[in-house]
Amino acid sequence: MDIYLHESQSLIDVDEHRFKVVAAGRRFGKSFYAAYKLYEQASYTEKVRSDGSIIDLAQEVVYYVGPTFKQARENLWSVMMDIGHRAGIIDSVRQNEGEIRLTNGRIIRFKGADDPDSLRGVGLSFVVMDEYAFMKPAVWEYIIRPALGRAEGGALFIGTPDGKNHFYQMWSAAMEGKDPSTEQPSKDWVAFQFRSKDNPHLTENEMESMYASLSEDARKQELEANFEATGGKVFNYAMFPVVAGGSSAGGNYVIGVDLAGFESVDGARKAKHVLDDHAIAIVRVHDRGYHVERVIHGQWDVRRTVLEIMQAYRHYRPVAVGIEQGMAKNAVEAFLKEYQERYGLWFEIIPLRHNNNRKEDRIKWALQGRADQGKITLEPDSDLDPEDKWVGKFLGQAVDFPNPLAHDDLLDAVAYTIDQLGGEGASASADDFAVFDEWTPLDLESGY
Ligand SMILES: Nc1ncnc2c1ncn2[C@@H]1O[C@H](COP(=O)(O)OP(=O)(O)OP(=O)(O)O)[C@@H](O)[C@H]1O
Ligand SMILES: [Mg+2]
Repeated sequence: MDIYLHESQSLIDVDEHRFKVVAAGRRFGKSFYAAYKLYEQASYTEKVRSDGSIIDLAQEVVYYVGPTFKQARENLWSVMMDIGHRAGIIDSVRQNEGEIRLTNGRIIRFKGADDPDSLRGVGLSFVVMDEYAFMKPAVWEYIIRPALGRAEGGALFIGTPDGKNHFYQMWSAAMEGKDPSTEQPSKDWVAFQFRSKDNPHLTENEMESMYASLSEDARKQELEANFEATGGKVFNYAMFPVVAGGSSAGGNYVIGVDLAGFESVDGARKAKHVLDDHAIAIVRVHDRGYHVERVIHGQWDVRRTVLEIMQAYRHYRPVAVGIEQGMAKNAVEAFLKEYQERYGLWFEIIPLRHNNNRKEDRIKWALQGRADQGKITLEPDSDLDPEDKWVGKFLGQAVDFPNPLAHDDLLDAVAYTIDQLGGEGASASADDFAVFDEWTPLDLESGY
């Protein structure tokens, strides 16, 4: 084969550990190295095991696993064809099956980690798991690793980080010389980390255009293989500074309510097992942006929900109160009228509309631009009781967004409030800033 590894790829290659975990930036040459490795490993026809016994590898396969079969083929098929044909080592190929048979009889097979059953049933002498951050981790432990047993085969895990997920867990365990599955010390594991620019074949042009297309945070992840960055995500911690009093005094309060639904829940919510909270966002709209004073949240029944809204109203005297439109709003409103009458606290409810936009888009459009410009601040919650604390929850939801398995109830309440009520508060001048009465909580038990 007339291909040469670049210096950083060689560093990985000369290392003698059985399992290698490589975090590398985009365009580092991960796939190129994977291709080299597949052909190298498939070029052997026998193997000397650790006890000195020699086994024939004719029945053992070499796997190239991608997140899906389609992705595996897109990543590497043409590269494999190119290298293999040039080197004259390909006997035959079955493109639809993702199979390459070499002139020595050995087989390289492309696979997708999303289809575990397709991975079973063969002995393996080597496996490459490319873009490991985007694969289901169970596949390694339960299917691939046992299949490497007879041949004492090795594995190369390679990919660009995607936050602190299973790839990070594996990489950091290997970094400490531990087996990621057991967290016990092991001689088999090693970890590497390389930047995109460690690939000498990348042109200045290519590097520059990649650089320009990424946010600062994404650069750390995508180009420097940094696990700390939140990369391709929509929000990061720095976008929501926690500042007592916010960046400006004055303005007006608005209150938006996102109800978890006393009604049926959709499929995604059911899958979470833990129910969403109702969330009441209290936001002060001032001349420089939005200060989130507090997000009151909990899994309440209708009556309790109404009391929480009344209490928030009495405390903050908002210029506008909105509730997410829907069945739950109707249920709340019936009670609300009753309580308003009882306490003589009248206010109108503005329906907050989703306008048929996907929740993901709504949240992103409402918050990303404003937060990016430093317009959204959070009030510290250090004085609140532990169960009332919301800042950590809110920030956690923000950095997890848009993971469909994570909650976003607090985030959604704030998004609704800023987006649909933000104008209400801003329209009044700072002089109108409501000075509210000394706050006496309503008694939630008796309703007084
Ligand atoms: N050792 C090498 N010799 C020559 N060219 C190389 C070498 N390693 C990588 N390259 C070239 O660098 C470029 C990036 O390589 P490759 O596609 O393997 O990177 P990657 O890390 O898998 O990228 P991506 O993050 O896009 O998946 C390709 O054009 C590839 O041909
Ligand atoms: Mg690649």
